[in-house]
Amino acid sequence: MRQYIIAGNWKMNKTVSESVALAQSIVAAVKDIKKVEVVIAPTYLACAKVADVVKGTNVKLAVQDVHWKDQGAFTGKVSIDMVKEIGAEYVIIGHSEQRQFFGETDETVNLKAKKTLSAGLKPIICIGETLEERQGGKLETVLSTQIKGAYAGLSEVDALNTVIAYEPVWAIGTGVTASDEQAQETQAFCRSVVKEIYGEKVSEALRIQYGGSMKAENAQGLLGQKDIDGGLIGGAALKAETFFGIIAPAEQLSA
Ligand code: PGA
Repeated sequence: MRQYIIAGNWKMNKTVSESVALAQSIVAAVKDIKKVEVVIAPTYLACAKVADVVKGTNVKLAVQDVHWKDQGAFTGKVSIDMVKEIGAEYVIIGHSEQRQFFGETDETVNLKAKKTLSAGLKPIICIGETLEERQGGKLETVLSTQIKGAYAGLSEVDALNTVIAYEPVWAIGTGVTASDEQAQETQAFCRSVVKEIYGEKVSEALRIQYGGSMKAENAQGLLGQKDIDGGLIGGAALKAETFFGIIAPAEQLSA
């Protein structure tokens, strides 16, 4: 069985001191969680301090992006060595906000994924369609292009160290969630694309999260679906109680 992975994407929220406080309350809330992999992604600025808070606990650290070059004149960017040094294990790559507002493309997602894997860290590769694309009948083409672009040149071993986050753009931060059936159907399709590239063994092992207005009220239904192996959580990850409200059903479903 694939292990559930629940990751909190804090986006551009929380100052450093607020981040430390939130991390402390999450660490306390999940101390008895044994089966679910719990990950938090604060802002870059807060990461080093949050790393101290989560060290030695069952909470893992992620960053929200990385650059694909090792170093140099890339104002505003952070390299994988910097991320690795503070002990982060995951890197969120290709979030729809990066794609929409900051020029992320399937090519840069691929470069970032390769760089992350080469340093021994794990990419969480975000994909997802806009409402227009879904309504225009382009859902499968969009997702398959994003997946194939992200995984271009990645070996089977590499692929096994990645997680996919399927996040319908129309469900992110809107309060509108994909229905359990919609999410399941789409994620089964994503898994079939992975199978097309790597075969059954990899596609059955690779974890696919759902993201987009996931919260305590809908977590059980979504996480109960066969091809949903966790969640990438925005709004509901900003409080320990609401984040825990998603982790708890995942732990129960793992029993
Ligand atoms: P949301 O964000 O849970 O606030 O919809 C999810 C995400 O963007 O990862």
